[in-house]
Amino acid sequence: MNLAARQRQLDALLLAFRPLWHPQPFREIRPDWCTRWPALADELLALPDDEVVRLNDDGAAALALLARYWPGVEAIAPLSAMPELPRVGLAARGDRWAWEIPGRKRQQIEAFAAAARCSGQPVIDWCGGKGHLGRLLANEWQSAVHTLEIDPALCAAGEALAQRASVRQYFVQADALRTADWPSADQHAVALHACGELHRRLIRHGAEQGVARFDIAPCCYYRGVEEHYQPLSASPQLRLTRDDTRLAVTETVTAAPRETRQRDRAIAWKLGFDAYRRTVSVEGYRSFKPVADAWLRDGFADFLGHMNRREGLREVGSASADEFERLGWQRFRDLMRLSIVRHAFRRPLEIWLALDLAVSLEQRGYSVSLGSFCERRLTPRNLLISAQLG
Ligand SMILES: C[S@@+](CC[C@H](N)C(=O)[O-])C[C@H]1O[C@@H](n2cnc3c(N)ncnc32)[C@H](O)[C@@H]1O
Repeated sequence: MNLAARQRQLDALLLAFRPLWHPQPFREIRPDWCTRWPALADELLALPDDEVVRLNDDGAAALALLARYWPGVEAIAPLSAMPELPRVGLAARGDRWAWEIPGRKRQQIEAFAAAARCSGQPVIDWCGGKGHLGRLLANEWQSAVHTLEIDPALCAAGEALAQRASVRQYFVQADALRTADWPSADQHAVALHACGELHRRLIRHGAEQGVARFDIAPCCYYRGVEEHYQPLSASPQLRLTRDDTRLAVTETVTAAPRETRQRDRAIAWKLGFDAYRRTVSVEGYRSFKPVADAWLRDGFADFLGHMNRREGLREVGSASADEFERLGWQRFRDLMRLSIVRHAFRRPLEIWLALDLAVSLEQRGYSVSLGSFCERRLTPRNLLISAQLG
């Protein structure tokens, strides 16, 4: 199926099933679908912990579960399955080129380089950090590479690494959101994990300039989105909020058990605070400002005290604090179960966002392919959009 047809079908299905993925159980204790499909809510709320972990992680399994209640959901899975892109073998070059690159990052970079294709054009490495990808490509493709990066310290560190590797790599310290000079016509633009508006700007501005080829692995789609996502392609019906675009990239495959425990506790405590706030205010959920990490280090009663003072709420005694901590963990337990519904749509939403970028390039005259360039365990942001002009 071509990309535009896939986009049309996925767009229609995500629009039809929006009542499932849009509500956030963190804010709505029981999303509306719980009333319409109480048997599903009951099934999810009764799941054992290991199944909850599995279904929150395995979107295809979660979609299969939902399809038992909503006929039609099953059509989403094949539309959001992406082919693995063919990879070429890279020249053996030992470890010297990879000074300073953490292990998993190095594997991502090598997988990206193996899935992208040399166009013979000079390369622009967009938002390249220390330019590790650019350095590898300068070597592998024997091309001149310009690495554009806003942070002068990263540019200086990258220049030193490029000199040590004796490659034709030059750093341009510039703001990717403002520069009019880069990329230029006939360049080959590569971007590994340039966040949100940074990759969108590359596509918009680069296509206007006549960039010869793009290889882009997008990430953090929500960055630079104000209230609503502004599609780049002409076609979609679906309107995503900023939170929807954030949902597309919320899963982590790299968290250590300790980080997971800390994250769970932070969520449970925030829910405990929310449970207390609802007892003293008639409003439903109200979003709150980010919480200082230090407030999460001591006991729940201290945390609640900090939150109440900041939000101008009455203090509670320690017996009540225990009760709200218990309520917070109870809501956390339910949240993890009800979120399976929402999390089933994470990858489909990410594919929708990537298709928007890919189809926008097709609409500007590029031939485009979209697939995954590495396994999800290396990075869940493993989609690569490759586009060739003409
Ligand atoms: C997620 S990192 C990716 C770095 C590199 N491509 C990689 O994969 O290792 C994003 C990079 O974008 C840079 N950046 C952020 N805002 C930028 C801007 N407005 N202009 C240029 N670079 C920017 C950051 O400093 C950071 O190095």
